[in-house]
Amino acid sequence: MNIRTAKVTDAKEIHELIEFYANNGKMLHRSLNTIYETIQEFVIVERDCKIVACGALHVSLENLAEIKSLAVNKDFVGRGIGRNIVEKLQLNAKNLGVNKIFVLSFSPIFFIKLGFVIIPKEMLPYKIWTECVNCHLFPNCGETSLLFSM
Ligand SMILES: CC(C)(COP(=O)(O)OP(=O)(O)OC[C@H]1O[C@@H](n2cnc3c(N)ncnc32)[C@H](O)[C@@H]1OP(=O)(O)O)[C@@H](O)C(=O)NCCC(=O)NCCS
Repeated sequence: MNIRTAKVTDAKEIHELIEFYANNGKMLHRSLNTIYETIQEFVIVERDCKIVACGALHVSLENLAEIKSLAVNKDFVGRGIGRNIVEKLQLNAKNLGVNKIFVLSFSPIFFIKLGFVIIPKEMLPYKIWTECVNCHLFPNCGETSLLFSM
């Protein structure tokens, strides 16, 4: 398996992976267009030229970034791939000079195991809410807010 930054040619496979979980209510949808526009934010794990996991780091503020669209193909869960992606995104944040990372997730235990702590959503900056209010699940999405500080 190989972990690397994404290329535009990966966008359709990334989209399929996210859609699988989004259609099961486990994460939020991302349009293919949004994936193209944010392709530099993505890292992927590939095996035999097929993408088996993805995740993105989106810088929100001077010292705050968000992990988005973390997904591991259902046939590959439980092998440490999710952890590898988060660690790569943490390294990317560090290299960008950002040492706080938050995530809104339906799988909080996974992130707690990686050192994130649960925080009240109200602690997150106002601009985060602009995405939330445009989401069809707002205001009762059931996602947990978590923060990691390096
Ligand atoms: C959540 C997800 C990313 C985990 O990926 P993974 O590759 O299976 O996770 P890992 O194998 O790296 O697991 C790391 C640790 O977290 C635990 N873990 C993994 N998924 C978990 C979950 N859903 N709930 C609780 N613990 C979980 C593992 O048991 C492991 O614990 P250990 O270190 O004590 O052995 C993956 O299941 C997934 O894509 N889920 C659907 C989408 C999703 O929920 N994304 C989250 C962000 S919105």
